[in-house]
Amino acid sequence: MGNGIWETLNGRNEIPQSVKRKEIKTLPAFRFPISYTLPSTFYSMTNKHSKERILSGMRPTGNLHIGHLLGVLENYRALQNANDCFFMVADIHALTTEYERPDAIQAASVEMVKDWLASGINPDVAVIFRQSDVPEHAQLHLLLSMITPLGWLERCPSYKEQLRELNGRELHTYGFLGYPLLQAADILVYKATAVPVGEDQLPHIELTRELARRFNSLYSPTRPVFPEPKSLVTQSPKVPGTDARKMSKSYDNAINIGAGPAELKKRVNSMFTDPVKIKIDDKGHPEGCVAFAFCKLLKPDGAASREALCRSGAIGCVACKKELLELLDGLLSPIREERKKIKDSDALAVLADGALKARQEASVVVEETKKAMGLFTASIS
Ligand code: TRP
Repeated sequence: MGNGIWETLNGRNEIPQSVKRKEIKTLPAFRFPISYTLPSTFYSMTNKHSKERILSGMRPTGNLHIGHLLGVLENYRALQNANDCFFMVADIHALTTEYERPDAIQAASVEMVKDWLASGINPDVAVIFRQSDVPEHAQLHLLLSMITPLGWLERCPSYKEQLRELNGRELHTYGFLGYPLLQAADILVYKATAVPVGEDQLPHIELTRELARRFNSLYSPTRPVFPEPKSLVTQSPKVPGTDARKMSKSYDNAINIGAGPAELKKRVNSMFTDPVKIKIDDKGHPEGCVAFAFCKLLKPDGAASREALCRSGAIGCVACKKELLELLDGLLSPIREERKKIKDSDALAVLADGALKARQEASVVVEETKKAMGLFTASIS
């Protein structure tokens, strides 16, 4: 991991200089249960674009697994020090599909933040916040809805696919159709210039770019309000589930970030290997073997020799799995130990702090948006 894993999909590096942010005089009243003083170091309202402004989010729908760790959190970690990062718990996005069972979302939000912190996402350098704590997302969503053609939303591949896939649920709602629009608001409300996402999310970033263009050309053609964000797509390989399908909580094939030694052992033992390699010295076929895929992922430089040993029948699956268990434990045990030290109240404090920082940025952009749209604005000179 580390540097060099990023690809700029649209290949455009320069960001249209956005309108200079004006200093905000008064912040809208915001009460949070935890008292907090804004650190004097955080005043990046004039994001100078020497760094990327990065916004990304994850829905709190359950425990994070190793696929999230290697595919998302490693990337967040690689980005956080050199950029201006906002990492969001997308709890309102979770509500678009889970509106009938909302209780789990709040608990999952706290658990997710604990996973983030234990994995090295650092609240001193990145802003970690919860979407519902920053009402500006909803405000910008509403404002942008005025200029969002229904067809753009209806044609989104994720919309059609999810309607089909989540067929036990009534998803013909206004909120669900607006899912990508809310995502666009999440991004634009910070004038983010880059968005780390999985490939499945690319249409949403494209929609965001189109909305930014449409807004700028309608309301502020000479001084664009919104930059067009680019997608940062991770090149890390997909992590398979223990049964070779996509790793997912719903398939019960996931290795959770917080998994203890016993759970890890169970998962590794149940992992799919080559079905025709029965005896140790049978010749193996690592290409279809999940244990091999994991070993390769966790120890890439050992892959070639492991592959040769497997193909020639010099190593058996049990030995391979034993080594894999050690590799997995080596990766997860520091996170597990770290996670034990993090209390719910720590995660809540991080979210409270993050909400203040996020609102400080987002409120400026909402004011600017309202102004561009000819609406009365009170708090900006
Ligand atoms: N839709 C994203 C997902 O399911 C989560 C998300 C919400 C997000 N808002 C975002 C990701 C803004 C990037 C930017 O993974």
